[in-house]
Amino acid sequence: MTDASATAAPDAMIRLENLTKAYPGQAEPAIGGLSLEIPRGEIVVFVGPSGCGKTTLMKLINRLIEPTSGRIVIDGQDVTEMNPDELRRGIGYAIQQTGLFPHRTVAQNIATVPRLLGWSAEKVSARVDELLTMVGLAPDTYRDRYPRQLSGGQQQRVGVARALAADPEVMLMDEPFGAIDPITREALQNEFLRIQRDIRKTIVFVTHDIDEAVKLGDRIAVFGPGGRIAQYDTPEAVLSDPADDYVAEFIGSGAYVKRLTLTPLSRVAAATDWPTVPSSADREERVAALRSADRDFVLVLDGDRRPVGWLGRDLAPDDDRLTGNGLPLLSSLGPDDTLFDALNAMLASNADVVVVTGEDGRYRGTLGMAAIQELIHTASPAAGAGPERAAGPAPGRSDSPGTDSPGKEVR
Ligand SMILES: Nc1ncnc2c1ncn2[C@@H]1O[C@H](COP(=O)(O)OP(=O)(O)OP(=O)(O)O)[C@@H](O)[C@H]1O
Ligand SMILES: [Mg+2]
Repeated sequence: MTDASATAAPDAMIRLENLTKAYPGQAEPAIGGLSLEIPRGEIVVFVGPSGCGKTTLMKLINRLIEPTSGRIVIDGQDVTEMNPDELRRGIGYAIQQTGLFPHRTVAQNIATVPRLLGWSAEKVSARVDELLTMVGLAPDTYRDRYPRQLSGGQQQRVGVARALAADPEVMLMDEPFGAIDPITREALQNEFLRIQRDIRKTIVFVTHDIDEAVKLGDRIAVFGPGGRIAQYDTPEAVLSDPADDYVAEFIGSGAYVKRLTLTPLSRVAAATDWPTVPSSADREERVAALRSADRDFVLVLDGDRRPVGWLGRDLAPDDDRLTGNGLPLLSSLGPDDTLFDALNAMLASNADVVVVTGEDGRYRGTLGMAAIQELIHTASPAAGAGPERAAGPAPGRSDSPGTDSPGKEVR
């Protein structure tokens, strides 16, 4: 299979052409004249209110139901010309509400499609253990349990493992994390993204939740009533430039905050003008550094240029605290943290600057509140509009009461 990230023009894995589905007795079709291309190796999220036709579309794609008119082409082949059983074995389908077979064990559930494909018992059993491990369930503990002996979140993981079992190129996932508490849900989403980085499947993912869509989708299709697509675009574009009032209302009021979660710090320039002093510096050098500093705090960097603490400018030259590492830096933000994490760290510590490090933990610079404000108003922060805008941290509130350390940041 081609690696979609390596090619400029996305090559469509799934193409829906003028697709219509009217259920018998329905006044309006559930899906009316829909056309859409889903690029290979991407996660496309269908998001929209209840009853807008998302599940109907999933069922059409794997031919659990037949379209009234229109065409569905998967990997260049018209699905209506394919044998439906064969088609379904090539598509992993995690259905809404997990749909595990209650009288089969976890292992038997996961093995459903590999068995149908005639895999040997050893190959099936190895695959089951591999998948259970992948979704974070210890095979020895969970293999022989029945679905009712699992928590809701564990059942959903088994549902995802079952959909992945025969290594299908296409996965349809209908609200796979729907009935799960927010914390477990976030863990599952992170696992899902981690797995997808390795397997690069073409995934259609359905959710009601715009935050989940923004987090998981390479592209988002926002559905309106009657299977109408109101907007089909990258998460950045949907959030910053909603196609119409319907989309704007669906996104809700937090669009700017949501956009912060889309920008990892690796794509943002850090300001490098914050005063620093090496931890090897002696008292005299430190006093000099504090005197010349244009900030209330000077950042101490160790021999590997890792940030270790803050020295306050108001320390007297004979103060013992001057020769140590200063006020502790509780943690700093790395390349995978986002602008949202940076803002959260600032709010949590009542400071207006955070320290940013590279992958190796070495000092990269600082990021200030003003820089975040500027980034959020650029057209597309995630497209790398940031780096030239290395605004320095805003002038400190750090001398205001109760804010004695700009660096006592971070979570
Ligand atoms: N078998 C059916 N016969 C008649 N109408 C149906 C059938 N299945 C679904 N519908 C109708 O088609 C529309 C779309 O349903 P669908 O299940 O695709 O919605 P959905 O977007 O998946 O909703 P949800 O978010 O609640 O899962 C709804 O109005 C529903 O009532
Ligand atoms: Mg549905």
